[in-house]
Amino acid sequence: MAMNDETVNLFFIHFNQITQMHGLLTNDGQGLFDQKTPFYLYDLELLERTLQAAAMAADKRGYKIHYALKANNEPEVVRQVVRYGMGADCVSGNELDAALRHGFDAEGVVFAGVGKTDEEILMAIQNGVLLNCESLEELMVTAGLSERAGKQARIALRINPDVDPCTHKKITTGLDENKFGIHPSQLQESLDFCRDHDALHFVGLHFHIGSQILTPEPFIRLCEKVNRLWEVYRIDEYGGEMLNLGGGLGIDYYHPEQHPVPDFESYFDIFSQHLRVPEHVHIHFEPGRSLVAQCGTLITRVLYVKSGHTRKMVITDAGMTELLRPALYQAFHKIDNLVSGRPEAQYDVMGPACESSDVFAKDIQLPGTCRGDILAVRSCGAYAQSMSLQYNLREKARSYFYRPLLSANNGTFSDATEPFACEVVD
Ligand code: LLP
Repeated sequence: MAMNDETVNLFFIHFNQITQMHGLLTNDGQGLFDQKTPFYLYDLELLERTLQAAAMAADKRGYKIHYALKANNEPEVVRQVVRYGMGADCVSGNELDAALRHGFDAEGVVFAGVGKTDEEILMAIQNGVLLNCESLEELMVTAGLSERAGKQARIALRINPDVDPCTHKKITTGLDENKFGIHPSQLQESLDFCRDHDALHFVGLHFHIGSQILTPEPFIRLCEKVNRLWEVYRIDEYGGEMLNLGGGLGIDYYHPEQHPVPDFESYFDIFSQHLRVPEHVHIHFEPGRSLVAQCGTLITRVLYVKSGHTRKMVITDAGMTELLRPALYQAFHKIDNLVSGRPEAQYDVMGPACESSDVFAKDIQLPGTCRGDILAVRSCGAYAQSMSLQYNLREKARSYFYRPLLSANNGTFSDATEPFACEVVD
């Protein structure tokens, strides 16, 4: 997919800001790099630019976005999303609670998940939140709960379309072998069940085939599947007026500087070109990663540079507890040494956890790296902080926010408790 050219120039300014953060001060006058590491650092300007690009591309086509809260639930990040008028996609009662507390309109909140508890379902029903129902069994439980509560539950049926998203196996959700969604062979029964129960108000279909999808083909196949299902099962006749296509748009982990903002225009174009559902059907999406991944950086300090038998190992004070993706999915995250101007060498970069899988990168080139150097692990705005662990009794890393001034060599940042309070100039 083609990316936005104009964002390239802006990146370099952004990059300079990060490398020059040495001189930047927190609200209480201390240097950012003198703060306890590791910490997450969020570029609010890039976040806003990304949200704006997504919102504009969606509005233009009449599409509705529900931000997938699981990607990042840091309150400051969520507050920004709310400002752009998006809805929320939740997968737990606590996410639902957070979404409502942060001011998302309950009507714009959707709730998915294969294992919703009775309490969670009731919470959604009481608040008028749309349930993306994942099985016939869940549908039956929901009908019973809503009848007893004397309220109607708004229902979308999540269908498993058996479309390969061509991404990592562990972030594939729409294949027959996956636990998510209702198999199309049970769609008729599910539709009839909704029609026969007054406590259920069927509004449409939901799909989500997987995450970090970088080519149009899986989305095109999804559209073809949806077109067929909508027609064959006469979804209109059952009152279907909403189609939710989930999230999944990937980001460039290898070149975050060249592609800071995903190409939402091309992404939505795929759907406007290939969907053949009736005009009156409202089209919804649930992006997570694409909205927030590139605005976040994990800042970590080098504790040791260890000479192993065959390799040099950089041991950092952040590890799989702050960024699980490399250990869980062998995911690549670009790493920069923000302070070294020494000649390059080859290193493995590893965290401190008592796990051999606690490895950020193997055989990467970095400028000569020493104890005390500060490293930036890029593209950590999605599925980093929200997947952090307290394994080994680790403390939760805190967050800082900054707003680079695009026309000057200075920036602003502040801590989570007092955002935007100070402008910092070196
Ligand atoms: N909707 C549903 C129903 C989902 O399950 C997900 C993600 C999304 C939307 C948002 O998808 P996105 O736009 O972010 O791709 N921890 C993994 C990603 C797991 C995604 C789970 N579901 C990772 O770090 O790559």
